[in-house]
Amino acid sequence: FAQLNVLAKLAGKQYFGSAVDNPALSDVPYRRQLSNWLDFGQITASNTLKWETVEAQRGVFNFTGGDEILALAKRNKQLVRGHTCVWHSQLAPWVEAGNFSAKELTKIIEDHCGTIVRHYRGDICKQQVHWDVVNEAFEDDGTFRQTVFYKTLGKQYFETALRVARKADPKTKLYLNDYNVEGLNAKSDAYYNLIKELKAKKVPIDGFGVQGHLILGRVPTTIKENFQRFADLGVDIAITELDIRMELPVTPEKLEQQKKDYETVIAACKAVKRCIGVTIWDYTDKYSWVPSWFEGEGAALPWDEDLKKKPAYYGIAKAWVGL
Ligand code: G3I
Repeated sequence: FAQLNVLAKLAGKQYFGSAVDNPALSDVPYRRQLSNWLDFGQITASNTLKWETVEAQRGVFNFTGGDEILALAKRNKQLVRGHTCVWHSQLAPWVEAGNFSAKELTKIIEDHCGTIVRHYRGDICKQQVHWDVVNEAFEDDGTFRQTVFYKTLGKQYFETALRVARKADPKTKLYLNDYNVEGLNAKSDAYYNLIKELKAKKVPIDGFGVQGHLILGRVPTTIKENFQRFADLGVDIAITELDIRMELPVTPEKLEQQKKDYETVIAACKAVKRCIGVTIWDYTDKYSWVPSWFEGEGAALPWDEDLKKKPAYYGIAKAWVGL
């Protein structure tokens, strides 16, 4: 009974979920656990809805990977987070190479976001879908990231993407999403100011996605205050990509610290009513992105490589219950 999605719901949240990359779906025990609604009420495709995959060539859309995940979610009665419409990374090379004018790039964003959001709109897929409409738009110092979108369009591109997404699916929840914005800092300040401005202009924006790629023993201390100020602005907050990595090798002490760290993050979400759900960035260390990106680091997730629950699992459960 004490399973993570059930406990999240009992704590008043919409879901606890996991990201998944399509190749892992052929791993039967992995897929079986991912499909367990008691632990996961939501899934996110960690790669196959990104621009380089969905629209590798202008105007040619490939939804194979995304559809596979949507179909699985539908069977499992899981909510879906769409990740992501506009992002500088894993972007189709033609978008940058084309040297497009502002007018043309606006049209490209509208076609891209409009098409993918429409493809998964609620009345077609009968699934509740939230979208990371713009991903990782700021630098850590709070300045705008100099992406092709910002360099060509300035901050107008947020409005363009959000408005076209709303039009494509009036019921979907629209998010801006980033990392290193868990606590109070220059980068979360920048989002606070941008969202305030967008709201003042009546641009549709429903939520702030806080990725949560954290480091063992270094969980920010101001998560709750940060979440609360966004809630007070009138948007939801979702933790969208949580993992807490450590230097290898794993020791029992590090696993205990990791349990505490997960507990701290979940407790902050629990404490803020508008923090509506938490997604971990895959659930098992077997498929985590961490070891291939950070040499010598890993073991970031609540299930180990053999799909066994780690202390972190029980830390999350404990925090949802509020013990
Ligand atoms: O698909 C190719 C495969 O054909 C090839 O053989 C292999 C060789 O390296 O690469 C495969 O592509 C990799 C892809 O993941 C699929 O596994 C890319 O190299 C690799 O760079 C890519 O990494 C992804 C990363 O985003 C790229 O930015 C991770 O899986 C994915 O988990 C990660 O997710 C991001 C979020 O989207 C945004 N927030 C940060 C988060 C972690 O970086």
